[in-house]
This record gives sequence, structure tokens and C-alpha cells, in this order.
Amino acid sequence: MLREKLGAIPVSAWENELPILEACIRETQRIVETLALLRRNVREEMEICGQVVKRGDFLVYSMAEVHLNPEYYPEPHKWDPGRWLRPSPVPNSVYPFLGWGVGRHSCTGMKVAKLEIKLVAALFLTRYEFDLVDKDGKFPDPLPVPDRNDSQQVSVELRIGCLIGIHLLSSA
Ligand code: HEM
Repeated sequence: MLREKLGAIPVSAWENELPILEACIRETQRIVETLALLRRNVREEMEICGQVVKRGDFLVYSMAEVHLNPEYYPEPHKWDPGRWLRPSPVPNSVYPFLGWGVGRHSCTGMKVAKLEIKLVAALFLTRYEFDLVDKDGKFPDPLPVPDRNDSQQVSVELRIGCLIGIHLLSSA
């Protein structure tokens, strides 16, 4: 049974032995996660890029500055998981990525979230046959792109799940 077969795969294999699925998840996060990160200066006044940030001030940083930066990600709107398997186009650099946050307060749920995404992707791909169709039942060409102004698409986790599905199907 499929459930037993999937259940026999150790957690370490889900975590470490699926580099292509890992790249698909990361690439989807890169494109979808262009949110604003909020920070408050709880320490002394500081200067960033010529601007004074006083104690108590709030800062907003757009993840798009990194995730859609063409210097690091040529054709930044193109879904290309293979880029994660190639070296960064910037010499002596790694790809900048904020999909799970960085530093002290990065995502504590990352491992469980990734495991869940991989399990759901595996179930979808092994249990069902899919055709990606538009409202007329035809393969959509060009592929749909997320509407960043659509409040229905605000939930990151949902969008990541759906987009991984769409991209996996369209590249199958
Ligand atoms: C696809 C799913 C998820 C994504 C993309 C995601 C992404 C993120 C990001 C980007 C941050 C950092 C935010 C910042 O720096 O301001 C964060 C923080 C956090 N995440 Fe997640 N997350 C996901 C799922 C989860 C899950 C399932 C849990 C709990 C089980 C979780 C718990 C947390 C917590 C507690 C923090 C705050 C950590 C801190 O402030 O020290 N996340 N997440």
C-alpha cells in the first residue's frame, strides 16, 4: 500500500535526500515570498544608508529586494529550480535567501513545514493524475502568474503549496 511505502521512508531521507524537490520548494518560496519584514530598533540610535534610525523606530524591509534581485537571480520572475543546483552568478557569493528568515529569529517551524510540503507533494504526485487546465479545459499558455494585488492570494503557506503544485505539473 502507498501509505505503508511512504511511511517506510525515514524522516532523514525526506529531509536530506530529495534535492530536486528541495530546490522546487526553495524556488517557489523565492518567487512567492516577497513580503515585508518588520523590525523595531530596541537599542540605541543607528544610521543605515545615511538614514538615522532612532530607538523605538520601526523598519520595514521588502523581501523582494533580495528574492527578485536580477543580480543574484537572472530572470527573477522565471520559476527555475535548477538555479539552486548551479553556483550563484555573483562570484564568491551564495544566493541570498530570506524564505525562512535569518539570524536569531528565523522560522522555528521550518523543518516541520518542509516535511509537510514534501509529504503533500509526494501524495499528490503518486496518488493522482493531473492536467493543468484553464477555464476552457486547455493547458494554459502562458502559465498563470500570481496576482500580487489579489487579497485572496495573501496566505503565504497556501500560495506556496498551490504554486509548487502548479509548477511541478507544468514541468512534468
Ligand atoms: C511554508 C511554511 C512557513 C514559512 C514560509 C515560514 C516562514 C517564516 C519566516 C520568513 C519567518 C521569519 C519572519 C521574520 O524574520 O520576521 C518565520 C518565523 C517563525 N515561524 Fe515560520 N514559516 C512557515 C511555517 C511555520 C510553522 C509550521 C511554524 C510552527 C510550527 C512556524 C513558526 C515560526 C515561528 C515561531 C517564527 C518566529 C521565530 C522567532 O521570532 O524567533 N513557521 N517563519
